[in-house]
Amino acid sequence: MKYTVITGASSGIGYESAIAFASRGKNLIIAARRTEELEELKSKVAEINSSLDVIIRTVDLSVPANVYEFYESLRNYQIETWINNAGFGNYASVGEQNLNKIETMLHLNIEALTILSSLYVRDYAEVEGTQIINISSRGGYTIVADAVTYCATKFYVSAFTEGLAQELSNKGAAMQAKVLAPAATETEFAKRSLDIDEFRYEGAVPKFHTAQEMAGFLLELYDSQKVVGIVDGETYEFELRDPIYPYVTRTRK
Ligand SMILES: NC(=O)c1ccc[n+]([C@@H]2O[C@H](COP(=O)([O-])OP(=O)(O)OC[C@H]3O[C@@H](n4cnc5c(N)ncnc54)[C@H](OP(=O)(O)O)[C@@H]3O)[C@@H](O)[C@H]2O)c1
Repeated sequence: MKYTVITGASSGIGYESAIAFASRGKNLIIAARRTEELEELKSKVAEINSSLDVIIRTVDLSVPANVYEFYESLRNYQIETWINNAGFGNYASVGEQNLNKIETMLHLNIEALTILSSLYVRDYAEVEGTQIINISSRGGYTIVADAVTYCATKFYVSAFTEGLAQELSNKGAAMQAKVLAPAATETEFAKRSLDIDEFRYEGAVPKFHTAQEMAGFLLELYDSQKVVGIVDGETYEFELRDPIYPYVTRTRK
């Protein structure tokens, strides 16, 4: 049996992506800190296709030791696709940002994603049909005012994943690496970034996608041979593209 791993599946893009992959008949390993929401997602998947296996992992991925433990706990499963989606943002100027929140953000958005990507590539790069998809942001290609540190974490995600895609392709590896770059999407993202209890996108954000639409774009990227799936910041159209960052191959003397 093959599985699709989705981190941050308890809400938003991760939750809807789990449903989208389940609709494709994929068994799931879903991870986040909120067990109840993951259980609810598991019941919803059972309604879509009761023959699917759904494994739940409750884990705080901002703690590096948990990240290794989480990966090790999946040794007995054959993982076809790995989606690093868990992440969050922050709105504040650099001099005014809450450093406890920022440290957690760096651990989750950068460190956990790098460790999980590296371990998955180490074990599966030569397995036919495997993919790693990392969730960056439009802010991983454009710096957004008052979200400089968050954008820098997503520049990292984009550069790391595009570079990984180049590396795998140059080696002729079986695995494909891809990066999804959403623009504003209606999820719990805004309220977590702003540290508020409720946020309504309608009326407050001029343009946005629903999490369901974003999960559809993720499937388009999954089905394609392209490396980057990015939302145009003006038109909000979704585009599949080749790597965007410049890349040079290293020449050894
Ligand atoms: N929404 C947007 O406008 C937008 C735009 C561009 C990119 N993105 C990116 O899309 C991804 C998904 O975000 P979203 O918009 O769907 O927001 P969301 O609804 O807040 O979902 C974030 C997910 O990450 C999980 N998570 C947060 N902290 C975690 C931790 N320490 N350990 C494990 N899981 C954790 C959350 O679950 P728990 O709280 O249960 O742990 C939740 O399932 C993020 O990487 C975000 O940066 C979002």
